[in-house]
Amino acid sequence: MFYPEELVEEVRAKNDIVDVVSGYIRMTKKGANHWGCCPFHNEKTPSFAVNGAKQMYHCFGCGAGGNVFTFVMNYENYSFPEAIKVLADRAGVTLPEASYDEAAKEKQNRRMRLLEVNKEAAKFFCYQLRTPKGEIGYQYLSRRALTDETIKRFGLGYSGKTGGELVQYLKSKGFEDDLIIESGLASFSEKYGMSSQFWNRVMYPIMDIHNRVIGFGGRVMGDGEPKYLNSPETPVFDKRRNLFGLNFARASRAGNIILCEGYMDVIAMHQAGFTQAVAALGTAFTPEQAGLLRRYTDSVLLAFDSDGAGVKAALRAIGILKDAGLSGKVINMRPYKDPDEFMKAEGKEAFEERIAKAENSFFFEIRILEQSFDLKDPEAKTNFYKEIAKKLCGFSVDVERENYLEAIAEKYNIGQANLKKLVNSYAAQTGLAKPIERPKSGVQSKNKPEDGAKKSQRLLITWITDEPGIYSKIEKYISPEDFTEDLYRKVAERLFADLANGNYNPAAIISMFTDEEEQRQAAELFNTNLPEINTPQEREKAFHDILYAVKKNSYEYFTSQLGADVTALNKVIQGKKALEELAKTRISID
Ligand code: UTP
Ligand code: MN
Repeated sequence: MFYPEELVEEVRAKNDIVDVVSGYIRMTKKGANHWGCCPFHNEKTPSFAVNGAKQMYHCFGCGAGGNVFTFVMNYENYSFPEAIKVLADRAGVTLPEASYDEAAKEKQNRRMRLLEVNKEAAKFFCYQLRTPKGEIGYQYLSRRALTDETIKRFGLGYSGKTGGELVQYLKSKGFEDDLIIESGLASFSEKYGMSSQFWNRVMYPIMDIHNRVIGFGGRVMGDGEPKYLNSPETPVFDKRRNLFGLNFARASRAGNIILCEGYMDVIAMHQAGFTQAVAALGTAFTPEQAGLLRRYTDSVLLAFDSDGAGVKAALRAIGILKDAGLSGKVINMRPYKDPDEFMKAEGKEAFEERIAKAENSFFFEIRILEQSFDLKDPEAKTNFYKEIAKKLCGFSVDVERENYLEAIAEKYNIGQANLKKLVNSYAAQTGLAKPIERPKSGVQSKNKPEDGAKKSQRLLITWITDEPGIYSKIEKYISPEDFTEDLYRKVAERLFADLANGNYNPAAIISMFTDEEEQRQAAELFNTNLPEINTPQEREKAFHDILYAVKKNSYEYFTSQLGADVTALNKVIQGKKALEELAKTRISID
């Protein structure tokens, strides 16, 4: 932790979550909550609730949630130290420098300096492009049909014939050699001294979502190897977690994101008005990038190259998108190679049509699969159908699988009943796909079947935080150890201690965690949907059932730990006693 807990709490308490969130999204008050459209997934009717009393937010659509720190981290893509800084400034709280631990402070300073170096370098490349020496770069970009406006918007530049000027310039600005080397802009050798990484290339600065330059791609003008040279990974340049163009795309209101392969594709698309286009950073598309995209949309259109490599990359990306709970479609670029060429040849309206006709990613996969079978050969045909069945088993939701089965059967003229038989026999051998694990970041995929034990633990915590008076009545039955999830137990320990001391404050509990995903899970604990209840009797029974379920799960858990955990026996005995007592008792909760 960077700061003492009291200070973190002071900053949190001075930033009313309703005020802060109102600065980002429009909300209206209804009941205990302020409601708005969730900024972490795409929706038209509000399911995003901010609770002023609990000082927390929770989205009933996608599961995003947390306190004011979580919100700012999630929305702005800030780390915890960055979020607390912004909120401290907002509330006029001064953060004492000294309370940083030294190593962390040094690391943060270094990051800042690296961002400064990059910014200066980007300025220098832009300037170079406009000098007579840079004319060659400017000509190249013009030949590729980029307008002055586009060149400016993307901050494109030129790196100089030899590259020597950059190092000189950066030094004159006071940057030390080792910093310039760490930024990847230059390297050092005994023979040549400091030499630039980039020379005689047009330069594409790569920005994070806050428009900070985190790295560069440099393209040769014409043929030459490598075509693109990219900055190496640095403490500010994480290629897995950023996307080219996302700084603009996140503000686009298109309702989808178009994922391209190349920098040039993104630039051409934006120039044509498709400001929702992004691309990976010289590496294959990653699950982290999918998680990032999910903050802004749930629909991703692939505009990959139409060659074999592009198709392969698209198939990979489809899998990653699916795992992240995003729906993917594929835009057909033929007869052109990529969006850049398409745009030059056909223009905006034609591309709009291609977007409208984008192919469902499952159909795309099957169509590609089909190409590897000779359907005139009965055996190959059978194998093709088997492969289809296998792929259908990948849908864990019954309705979804059924719908695809119907559609595919019709499309490929297969008897529905036969295809269903194939699916069933395949599923019997291997089982249907397990529901996906949620990757770490962003929000949660909808309608995931619940793990019952976890759910009752969450329900119990929500119920206790909503009606703290209950705690004293169940104190003797329940302890933090009954929460078998690690994170839940940590929350329960703190919550029960706070309740016993009479200073109960759920939003502060969330600040115990500095990781955004842990904060989300903690917040979820306080915001589970309680069962619909009509009568006091029903209420009592519902509460009893939840408490009993939590206790029973913990009893079973410790029973399974007998032999492995020396304290388990004691807990099993106590658990058994509590269960017997609970079976006979009804706790009056009103
Ligand atoms: P492309 O060759 O499709 O790039 O590679 P492009 O952006 O369309 O380039 P133009 O139109 O020929 O100018 C796709 C992406 O792969 C990465 C870059 O991120 C590029 O944008 N790449 C490609 C490299 O990092 N290095 C290379 O040598 C080639
Ligand atoms: Mn291209």
